[in-house]
Formats: sequence, C-alpha cells, structure tokens
Amino acid sequence: MRLLVTGSAGQLGSHLVEEADRAGHAVVGVDLQQGADTTVLDLSDAEAVRSLLLAERPDAVVHAAAWTAVDDCELDPDRARRANVDATAVVVEAAALVDAHVVGVSTDYVFDGTKDGPYGEDDPPSPRSVYGTTKLAAERIVLGGGGTVARTSWLCSARGRNVVRTVLGALDAGAPLRFVDDQRGQPTFAGDLAGMLLLLARDRPGGVFHTTNAGPVTWYGFVQEILRADGRDPGLVVPIRTADLDPPRPAPRPANSVLSDRVWRRAGYPPARDFREPLAEVVAVLRHR
Ligand SMILES: NC(=O)c1ccc[n+]([C@@H]2O[C@H](COP(=O)([O-])OP(=O)(O)OC[C@H]3O[C@@H](n4cnc5c(N)ncnc54)[C@H](OP(=O)(O)O)[C@@H]3O)[C@@H](O)[C@H]2O)c1
Repeated sequence: MRLLVTGSAGQLGSHLVEEADRAGHAVVGVDLQQGADTTVLDLSDAEAVRSLLLAERPDAVVHAAAWTAVDDCELDPDRARRANVDATAVVVEAAALVDAHVVGVSTDYVFDGTKDGPYGEDDPPSPRSVYGTTKLAAERIVLGGGGTVARTSWLCSARGRNVVRTVLGALDAGAPLRFVDDQRGQPTFAGDLAGMLLLLARDRPGGVFHTTNAGPVTWYGFVQEILRADGRDPGLVVPIRTADLDPPRPAPRPANSVLSDRVWRRAGYPPARDFREPLAEVVAVLRHR
C-alpha cells in the first residue's frame, strides 16, 4: 500500500509510520511537528493538502491528526472546530481526488457515558464535550465520503502524553497517586491500534469500528495494573471520585466509555489483546529492561 498518515509526529501517528514501514508499505506523514517520514504541513491549508495527495497518490489515508487537548478544546471551541472538523473536511475532499480510502480515528468521547454496558458501534452518540462534539462532526464527514471510522480510547504508549508515562514519572518523583474510580474504559496501546488501522486501510470496509485493547477497567484500576507491571505495590494509588478532582476539569469525561468490538470481530479480524500484555511491554521499554 501507499499510505498517508496525518498527525504522524503524534503518539498514534508515529506508531502508524513505524508499523507501516515494518509491514513494507510506502508511507508519507504530515504533521505540524517534525517527525519520522513527516512533511511539516498544516491540514487547514487545503491547497497544500490537495497538492500532496495528487503528488503522492496514496491508496489510503489514516487521519490521526487532531487537537487532542480535551480541556483546552472546551475553552477554545473555534480552534477545536478548525483543527478537528475543518481539517477533516480538507483531508476527505483531497483523498477523494485520488480515490484514497480514509480511515478517520475517533474517540469514546462521542458517547455521554451514561449507558450501563459497553457501547456498540451503532449506539447513538451524544457527546458532552467540545472535543467529543468536534470528533463526532469529523466522523460524519469521513462516513459521508465513504470512509471508515475507527473509535479508540485511553491511548497509551512509550511516547507522548499518557497515563503510563505520568504514573512512572510520579513514582520517580515520589509524588502521590490519586486516580478516579468512577470512570470506566479500555486502555489502548498505540502499537496494537496501528496494526488494526492498517488492516482497515487495506480492506476499505467503510462504516464504524471500535478499535481498542480488551479489558474494561477504571482509571484507578488501570493505575494499579501499571504499578504491578512496574513491580510496585498496587496499594500506592488512592481511589478518588470525579467530584473530588481539585480543580475540576473543564471538559466532562464519560463515566462509562467501554467500547464493544462486535463489528470488528464479525468482520473476521483477530481480537485485540488484553491491555495488560502491551502494558507490560511498554513499561519494560520505559524502564529499559
Ligand atoms: N490520546 C487519546 O487518549 C485518544 C483517545 C481516543 C482517540 N484519540 C484520537 O486518536 C488520534 C491520535 O491521538 P494522539 O494521542 O496520537 O494525538 P497527538 O499525540 O496529539 O497527535 C496528533 C498530532 O496531530 C497534529 N496536528 C493537529 N492539528 C494538525 C493540523 N492542522 N495539521 C497537521 N497536524 C496537526 C498534532 O500537532 P500539535 O501537537 O502541534 O497539535 C499532533 O502532532 C486523534 O484523532 C485523537 O482524537 C486519542
């Protein structure tokens, strides 16, 4: 495949570039930041994006670029819309010029989190945050262009900003660990997700897929698993409630964002690993074991 990855300097995008290289695909990345195989380009520049697509003529575009600072999005909805909605429209329109299939990466934040059980792909979205609202609008643009939406959650890896790195850093600094025990979801590791997205890019199925690692857990429970993976006492983390966060976060989080992968499995793809497996691998990398 010839593949274009947007957000290629970010946490997920950099893993996508690596996985695509390893699988023998020809890959070009675009991002606001410099990264491996990356052209620095702002996706809001429609003319530049069109020129790049016409020059590279990829078979598929994995659109991972987004403004992912959830609380900042809440405070600047116009910027969130430009970064997450308008840029997606530019990507989808340019991809159509060369018949490239778009796989748009989306989020559990499109749900309000009030459902008792796992969210299915066809459950009606009802975002409560600016970030979730803009990502849902982006989903609709991708689907409108015949593309595939891949929703994921609680992204982690050995790079970027994520809870695994935060917890290991706090341990090194001797800082206290307090995490909420009333928000439930599924951690997803960027390397595993990259492999899943490459399958969707290859197969061009269209529609909505839930692509996470397996194993529902609260943030408190997840931090206990991170401590275990680091050979520490899981009792080092203290459970708190969302209402006890001081200061409260500007953007509301879904209390339940467990995503079921029915469509993924029905399509015959291999089930994702339990998150504890890639967690152990990432902790080993970060601890140089
Ligand atoms: N992180 C999570 O927990 C999570 C959970 C569910 C879904 N997702 C989704 O997964 C995808 C990847 O997330 P991530 O954590 O890898 O995000 P990330 O590390 O923030 O990477 C996104 C990259 O896109 C770049 N970008 C933003 N706007 C751009 C533009 N106009 N033109 C070119 N590049 C642009 C960003 O640059 P700047 O850094 O300069 O903005 C950043 O390098 C996103 O679509 C996100 O919504 C993430």
